[in-house]
Amino acid sequence: MIVGYVIGEASPQEALVLAEKPVRVGRYVVLEYDGVKVLGLITSVTRGSPLLDLTINDIKIVQKLKNLDTSIPQFVRADVKLLHEINSGMIPDLPPGPGTPVRFAEEDELRDIFSEGDIVIGSVIGMNIPVKIKVNSLSRHLAILAATGSGKSNTVAVLSQSIASIGGSVVIFDYHGEYYDSDIRPLNTIVPNLNPLHLQPREFATLLEIRPNATIQYRFLRNAFVNYVKEVKEKLKDGNVDYEELNTNFVKHIEDKIDEIASSEKQRQQKDAADEVKNKLEEFVDRFGGTINLTVPDITSRIKPASVNVVDISHMDEEAMDAVVSHYLRRLLDSRKEFRHRGTGLGFPVVAVIEESHVFISKNQDTLTKYYASKIAREGRKFGVSMVIVSQRPKGLDETILSQMTNKIILRMVEPTDKKYVLEASDNLTEDLVEQLSSLGIGEAIIIGNLVRLPAFVKISKFTGKLGGSDPDIKGEWSTFLNPNRIGEEFG
Ligand SMILES: Nc1ncnc2c1ncn2[C@@H]1O[C@H](COP(=O)(O)OP(=O)(O)OP(=O)(O)O)[C@@H](O)[C@H]1O
Ligand SMILES: [Mg+2]
Repeated sequence: MIVGYVIGEASPQEALVLAEKPVRVGRYVVLEYDGVKVLGLITSVTRGSPLLDLTINDIKIVQKLKNLDTSIPQFVRADVKLLHEINSGMIPDLPPGPGTPVRFAEEDELRDIFSEGDIVIGSVIGMNIPVKIKVNSLSRHLAILAATGSGKSNTVAVLSQSIASIGGSVVIFDYHGEYYDSDIRPLNTIVPNLNPLHLQPREFATLLEIRPNATIQYRFLRNAFVNYVKEVKEKLKDGNVDYEELNTNFVKHIEDKIDEIASSEKQRQQKDAADEVKNKLEEFVDRFGGTINLTVPDITSRIKPASVNVVDISHMDEEAMDAVVSHYLRRLLDSRKEFRHRGTGLGFPVVAVIEESHVFISKNQDTLTKYYASKIAREGRKFGVSMVIVSQRPKGLDETILSQMTNKIILRMVEPTDKKYVLEASDNLTEDLVEQLSSLGIGEAIIIGNLVRLPAFVKISKFTGKLGGSDPDIKGEWSTFLNPNRIGEEFG
């Protein structure tokens, strides 16, 4: 079906089309010229009339024209971004000539392009053409970005379940508690415990807020902690352990060790440092008490292949969340390295999804997670640890990490500073695509990167089944609060 004809001056990258009638942004078109068949994407559409142009300043003229029997002549213009030659896959090197006909791409032409991947994530907007993404490309990581309520969590659910269905392993850090009791299958829920026996001394010191330059404090903690862990591990080997006692007296045991070490010190300064470490240990228990458990196995032995593993961190405060997410990310990366080098450790690749990433990978704040997330962004690819960062506040994200997320699924985004920030942090995103983000509907997205051969305008599939992210029924909740008997009526 003919959309219109090229007018004005075209380049090998773009052309202006005079269209027969209004067309939707995001539709794919084909231009045939000079023996090549070029696929293009409509990136903007305008509509106007030479009779009612901007020089008109008398409303009566408009009213008179409207009252005439004949309709007002109109034109529709569309900008087309030229993507690639359909047969060769090359980027076009010649511009289309004026008058070149422009037609909608046929389903078969698009079907080939978007069926290269492994799992279906949705369909081309306005067409019945499934869009598959290449799972291997997740090694270059992914950012799922959008304004609130635009369909990020739905995308995570669809993506995760599909990855699990082909044998993959996903770990979702469930900030809002939307996934852990969802209908995603197979689901493996993980209680977000931290086992100090798996912490490195430096990691433990960071959780205690012992600063890197507090060398005396660190030395006390390190010696006490290393001794303690060694003793417990030996006891565990003998099977001679009272688990309850172990958890209850964890801090006391380490404090005893600190006292032991401090007793041989003579200087006041050393004694003060030992006391300070003890204070910090007690504060640590106040903050993370519910999370500490010396009997849980390491995260890497709790996650399952061919499953969506959900770590429900929703009941924790942000500091504790940060501790858990960073520790788990470190263990995932270390364990995959161990597997590569020695054959022990985590035997399968993982995709780690961090919801509300701007909290953990913030532009302005140095969180524990930011350190390991940036390590995974750099090294994860080699060891099979992929990262998916999800955020409704892209401009709050660390720019380097965002720019290392080669793939992006961007749903509706309106805020100009967010759009600008994402554009600057993405090599493969262009201004004309970013312009379109405000006009996307819920669940509609632009996918860029290696996941797809070409930038794709996709309506993401709706996850079928329960997912906690639906908009709350505020009116309904008021009504049930005021008329509690209604519950009885409904269920009675
Ligand atoms: N592809 C889709 N098709 C149909 N409905 C959708 C789609 N994606 C999301 N929705 C609906 O839109 C609403 C918001 O979706 P979702 O919770 O995924 O958004 P979000 O971007 O994660 O929001 P938040 O910023 O609150 O985390 C939900 O009710 C969901 O069912
Ligand atoms: Mg969400």
